[in-house]
Amino acid sequence: MLCLTAAGQPAGRTCWNEGWTFLKDGKEKTVDLPHDWGVEGEFKQEYPGESGKLPWWGQATYGKALVVTAEDLAKDIRLEVDGAMSNARLWVNGREAGGWPYGYASWAVDITGFLNEGSNWIEIRLDNKENSSRWYPGGGIYRNVWLTRTEKTSVAHWGTFVTAHVRGSEATVFQRVTVKTDRPQIALVSTRILYKDPAADGTQVEHVVAETRSFAQIYDGRVVLQDFDLDEPRLWSPEEPNLYVARTVVTAEDGTSDTYETTFGIRRAEFKRDGFYLNGQKTFLKGVCLHHDAGLLGAAWNEDAWTRRLEKLQEMGCNAIRTSHNPPAPELLDLCDRMGFLVMDELTDTWTYAKKENGYATLFDQWAEKDLVAMIHRDRNHPSVILWSVGNECGEQGDSTRWWIPQRLTDICHREDPTRLTSAGNDNPGAAFTGYAGTLDVYGFNYKPQLYERFVKEHPGQPVLGSETASCISTRGYYRFPVEEAKNKGWDMEPPFQVSSYDLYAPAWASKADYEWQFEDAVPECAGEFVWTGYDYLGEPTPFNLDPSVLSNFHTEEEREAYKKWVAQWGEVVSDVPLPSRSSYFGIIDLAGFPKDRFWQYQSRWRPELPMAHILPHWTWPGREGELTPVHVYTSGDEAELFLNGESLGRKKKEGYRIVWNDVRYAPGTLEVVAYRKGGEWARDKVCTAGKAVKMAASVDYAGEDLTYVTIDILDKAGVLVPDAGNLLSFSVKGPAVLVGTDAGDPTSHVPFYSPQLPAFHGKASAVVRRTGPGAIVLSCKSKGLKTTEIRL
Ligand code: GAL
Repeated sequence: MLCLTAAGQPAGRTCWNEGWTFLKDGKEKTVDLPHDWGVEGEFKQEYPGESGKLPWWGQATYGKALVVTAEDLAKDIRLEVDGAMSNARLWVNGREAGGWPYGYASWAVDITGFLNEGSNWIEIRLDNKENSSRWYPGGGIYRNVWLTRTEKTSVAHWGTFVTAHVRGSEATVFQRVTVKTDRPQIALVSTRILYKDPAADGTQVEHVVAETRSFAQIYDGRVVLQDFDLDEPRLWSPEEPNLYVARTVVTAEDGTSDTYETTFGIRRAEFKRDGFYLNGQKTFLKGVCLHHDAGLLGAAWNEDAWTRRLEKLQEMGCNAIRTSHNPPAPELLDLCDRMGFLVMDELTDTWTYAKKENGYATLFDQWAEKDLVAMIHRDRNHPSVILWSVGNECGEQGDSTRWWIPQRLTDICHREDPTRLTSAGNDNPGAAFTGYAGTLDVYGFNYKPQLYERFVKEHPGQPVLGSETASCISTRGYYRFPVEEAKNKGWDMEPPFQVSSYDLYAPAWASKADYEWQFEDAVPECAGEFVWTGYDYLGEPTPFNLDPSVLSNFHTEEEREAYKKWVAQWGEVVSDVPLPSRSSYFGIIDLAGFPKDRFWQYQSRWRPELPMAHILPHWTWPGREGELTPVHVYTSGDEAELFLNGESLGRKKKEGYRIVWNDVRYAPGTLEVVAYRKGGEWARDKVCTAGKAVKMAASVDYAGEDLTYVTIDILDKAGVLVPDAGNLLSFSVKGPAVLVGTDAGDPTSHVPFYSPQLPAFHGKASAVVRRTGPGAIVLSCKSKGLKTTEIRL
């Protein structure tokens, strides 16, 4: 509900999210944006698991009155929509004023000519088609909407482009200002470059570090160039995300003036033959791919939800994000600028070869250039954005008659932004060694680390990275015995439809993290990786996702056959099994935001200086006494010793990316690991056998201005997490707040996200509360047989 910042902002821009009438299937209600009607619905077994088993499709109309004065009408008024899913058409007072089909694009329409003094009726009609997405797309106006009033002569929409050239301790900042005006004239375009420092009282002090004034003869669409020399600029980097603001004022001959602010960063980002360099320092992209949903909020954008998500990724050591497979909410890039993430900003999952009947291929010919230009114009001032990705696993990789497509997209990127390079996610192994590779600047491999070395040899000088890596699958807190590494030993095509969390399992085309890392370590030219995925997401519940469209992930008959064979291992049973799963198992962190074991495996590699050790599995296995229970440890140390109830099970050196004790026999008690680095003690971790569940602990996981995330842990008498607890929990809120929803991270759960009641999953659950006014809020959680817990927020 909150509209916070944006990278390019005219002074007359206001958030226009509140109080829309929403009409769908004959029912009307009032909603605030961002709004996703899909997550308000119920999971249904008969809905496709691939897109989340939620009702996200259909037609709907959003309407809202806009009152304008005669004074307003002397200005220009435009409606800016950050994202509406999908096929949006904008109507003003019964006349069609514009629209945009791609649900992930941001767009704006100047509605001045459609308005009358007094009340006007604005309507956005959506038509979200079934069978259009390989994952949960959401439905509705799921991002912010803005109303912008500008003077007749002002900076155009997304009308600034700031770049910086850094040389030693100096930088030159260039700004291209596109002006809009209703008449040619000589106007004054003046810009101040500001740096904001936090003051002791929490406010910000502005320092003007450079300024310039240009008198220019302007006409509509004229570009005015300005440059500024800065001494000792504060460079932007993930470690120090320093931001500047360019405040541009356009003053017309009639004396009116209008201000436009552009947030930007000064940094030198370069892909070289041996990797990525930021401000001259080689920087490995420790990245994750992310879909656009935020779990129980669905596709609806929320700054708190995403701040929480990004903080957790940062704790893991992640410094980069690929917005798979579409342009993100613009505010996600603001967060990345402020928090320090490097971003691969992606256009689409499809060019002209369809993956879904009603997917992007139906729009490509008419809209791809417009969508790409919109993405670049919106996003090119973000220092976080370092690459434009023009596509993902597009079938054209293998079709030389269509290589002009990626070439054309790359050319458009270069035309609109000469400062950044292009890439794409590519899965067709052959394509990497054909002319196709040259249509992209930085070659992105999806799941082919074994080809990094050959690529570097055959394309000397062309940068390369892992655009999608691993695709390991697991369920938080679920382990299967015996532990065997063969691909399909981590799960069964039968209840509970979960995947063992030994982090060894992946679908046919993918691998555990360890496999990827061997090649990254052997090929120092590899600029980095984007793991599939940072968080679980709605839809695509592989391996319990047998929608035939999955075949579109394969490009040769051979690959298709291999996949069919893999599926066929379960014989006819497969088609008879009603698969309940509705969200993915790929995440390093689950849908509710709880880290899976892999979180610590990535942390051990991505934060090598952080003393840490992590043991898996949990140590509560009644009935497994005396049975082989392998123990894996992730650590940033180089050696570790394992103790069961005080007795050493051996000290081992790290070989590869984990330390494994395969011959441990389970006995209840305490399992402890002591990790060493260079001979000295470095870190410890311990897991204890839990007794009966008797109580709950509530803790604040994240507290934002709008949303608070509370975690419930189910504990035994001694305070040990009960790892198989699935107690039914009931939440209630007192005070100025509402319960937004609940989730426990179980990919098979059909409990609606809005339900105040849900079973805990592997000892945990999460509840999200929205503050609606000032004052104390108390969230309480009840469960039969457990002591009620309350928390003041
Ligand atoms: C890739 C694809 C992703 C996702 C992933 C699952 O092939 O690009 O969108 O489907 O597989 O492993």
